[in-house]
Amino acid sequence: MLSKPDSTGFKNHYKRVMRNSTIRMVFLYFLLFSLSSFILLSFIYWSTINYNYEQMDNHIEYDMERLQTIYGVSGTASLIKSIETSLKQKNYDSIYLLYNIANRKILAGNLSAIPDIKQSGWHNILLSDVTDDPVKKTHSARLLLMPLPENLWLINGLDVEYVQQQEQTIFNSLITGVLITILLGAIGGFIISISTIKKINLINDTIHKISNGHFDKRIPLRGTDDDYDLLSKNINDMMDQTQKLVQSIQNISNNIAHDLRTPLTRLRTRLEAIQNHCSPETSEGISLALMETDNLLTTFNAMLRINKLDSGVQKGHFKEVDISNLLNDVVDFYEPLAEEKAIELIYDSLSNIPVHVHFYADKGMIFQVFSNILDNAIKYTPQQGKIKLSYTFSTDETHNYIKILIADSGKGIPAAERKKVLEPFYRLQKHRDLQGNGLGLSLVAAIIRLHQGKIDFMDNNPGLIVCITLPCSQISPSTS
Ligand SMILES: Nc1ncnc2c1ncn2[C@@H]1O[C@H](COP(=O)(O)OP(=O)(O)OP(=O)(O)O)[C@@H](O)[C@H]1O
Ligand SMILES: [Mg+2]
Repeated sequence: MLSKPDSTGFKNHYKRVMRNSTIRMVFLYFLLFSLSSFILLSFIYWSTINYNYEQMDNHIEYDMERLQTIYGVSGTASLIKSIETSLKQKNYDSIYLLYNIANRKILAGNLSAIPDIKQSGWHNILLSDVTDDPVKKTHSARLLLMPLPENLWLINGLDVEYVQQQEQTIFNSLITGVLITILLGAIGGFIISISTIKKINLINDTIHKISNGHFDKRIPLRGTDDDYDLLSKNINDMMDQTQKLVQSIQNISNNIAHDLRTPLTRLRTRLEAIQNHCSPETSEGISLALMETDNLLTTFNAMLRINKLDSGVQKGHFKEVDISNLLNDVVDFYEPLAEEKAIELIYDSLSNIPVHVHFYADKGMIFQVFSNILDNAIKYTPQQGKIKLSYTFSTDETHNYIKILIADSGKGIPAAERKKVLEPFYRLQKHRDLQGNGLGLSLVAAIIRLHQGKIDFMDNNPGLIVCITLPCSQISPSTS
């Protein structure tokens, strides 16, 4: 069945995205960028506001000193006159009040009542019901209260309504500035991360293909001579060297296998000729020698085939293959061998799966794959055992796959040796006295690599499950 993207799928996708170091770095950079721009703009805001208030205080202090001097030199009348002159200059922000504290009589100024402040010094207060302003009853003000001789008190200050409005405008502009900076930072981070992720993905994809057996793949260079180009070039050079080494090793083993085949075939022909003219006792010995020679020839042929497959010389003849029929044929072929060991061979065809699949492969090679695996299953499963073949379909975000499972009830392969059995000539210690030369699974692996599939081993408790995954071109829900 086709799996639908669900919330788990989304969570996995989210986890994958967050695992990406570039995204994490950009996200971190974005946070730091936002924080630092916030701190910077807050500092600008704070210093601008502070400067405004300092200027205001200086102005008030200077004016207060001026009025105190006038009072000191010329007395109350001059002070009143000076206050009235200042007010006439239509400086609407200025606040003056000269009053007698003893009889609470106002002598000069632009407040209609004495505000409720009793201590000399600085005061930030809300002037309500004490202004003459008919439009606005309440004013925020910064006032300096100074006692003078003769029970006089002088208030000098500024209406800070306008400054507060300015403060609000600066605050709004800075908030907009922070938001714009964060937005620009996010867009910049997104562009940088996309291009970095693209470059890294290209390198990763190519390395993934190489490690899946496509040794001829190389990372495309963009010609920018940047770090990524340099890294790609170094990886490509390293791969060229590795490929050369692998090829020379393959050539040596190929040459040995190839060159020894002719003398071995000649040896075989001679042994057959001798067998035709010798005593029955000698003939028995020669039959054993012939078997050994055949075994050596099979080994060399298998080695040559694996090398050919890996070097890409042997290309498959890919055609659409009906996997169900092919597995049926393999089972039919191996049934007699299984019967000899009283092994129950079950093929679960699952042909009722409601999907339509186009599976392209080299039929002969795929037949060889399942022959080798079934041969192993029968060979390494004790008498009266059970072998089950089944297949299923799966799909991920980009590809569709056929999965074929061959499960036996033998002793299995220990987890630590599952990779090693895919290497040529590797056999489990306990199986070394059984017939075989350790090339069956290497050939399987080479064919699977050619088909861009994969092979996995799992526990059948008891026994082994071999899982072959092969890509297929389409899985679409059946209309029937
Ligand atoms: N189904 C299985 N159960 C347990 N061990 C297995 C199974 N299949 C493979 N093995 C182990 O993996 C080893 C490698 O298998 P492989 O098919 O490559 O070689 P082989 O069977 O020994 O010889 P041949 O070249 O004739 O196939 C085997 O020798 C065996 O030890
Ligand atoms: Mg085998």
